[in-house]
Amino acid sequence: SPPLIIAVDGPAASGKGTLSRRLAAYYGLAYLDTGMLYRGVGWVMLSRQLDPRRVDDAEAAARAFSLDDIADADIRTPDVGRAASQVAVQPPVRAALLTYQRRFAAAPPNGLRGAVLDGRDIGTVVCPDAPVKLYVTADTEVRAHRRWSELMARDARSLSFENVLEDIRRRDARDAGREEAPMRPAADAVIIDTTTLDPDEVFARALREIDRRL
Ligand code: C5P
Repeated sequence: SPPLIIAVDGPAASGKGTLSRRLAAYYGLAYLDTGMLYRGVGWVMLSRQLDPRRVDDAEAAARAFSLDDIADADIRTPDVGRAASQVAVQPPVRAALLTYQRRFAAAPPNGLRGAVLDGRDIGTVVCPDAPVKLYVTADTEVRAHRRWSELMARDARSLSFENVLEDIRRRDARDAGREEAPMRPAADAVIIDTTTLDPDEVFARALREIDRRL
C-alpha cells in the first residue's frame, strides 16, 4: 500500500509544526518541516550576501541545497523567514524543492509507513492525493503573540510585538498572494482554528478528524 501521508498546511505560527511533530510521533510516521527547506535556501542567500529576490541566484541555491548546509545555522529568525518567503514566490525555486518533498513522501526514511509534511502547499500541490489534509490557522494577533513569545524566550532583546505582527502580516500576504502554489486550504482540507485552543486541544481535534478518515 502507498505511504500514509498527512498533509498539514497553514500560516506562520499557527501551531502546525507542534501538531505535525505530535502526529508523526503518535502514528509512527516520518516528519518533514518543508518550511525548513525554504528557510534553508533563504539562509544560504543571506549568508552569501545575495538578494533573495534574485531568481537566478535563488534557483541555483535551491538546486544545490542540502540539509547539511544548514546543520549549524539559525534559520528560525525573522530575517530568514522573510528571505524564505521571498525565494518561495519563485517557480524555479519551488520546482527544485518539490522534487525533494515528493521523494520524501513517496519513500519515507527509516522504512516508516508514511509521513507528516507541513507547509503551505502540501495538500494542494506537493501531496494532492493525501488521505488526510489539515489546514491549521489562528487569528493574526494570536499567532504574532505566540511567535513573539518564542523569540523573546530565545533572546530578550528581540523585536517588539509590533514588529513581529507586521512581519507576519507581510509574510502571510506574500505567501497567500503569490501566483505559484499560494497558501490556501485544499478543497478537501479540515480547517482547525487554534485561536482559543491549547496544543493538547489541537492534537485531540486532529486525532478525531484523522481517525474518521483512516
Ligand atoms: O513554515 P515556515 O514559517 O518555516 O516557512 C517559511 C516560509 O517558507 C513561508 O513563509 C513560505 O513563504 C515558505 N514555504 C512555502 N511552502 C511551503 C513551506 C514554506 O512557500 N510548503
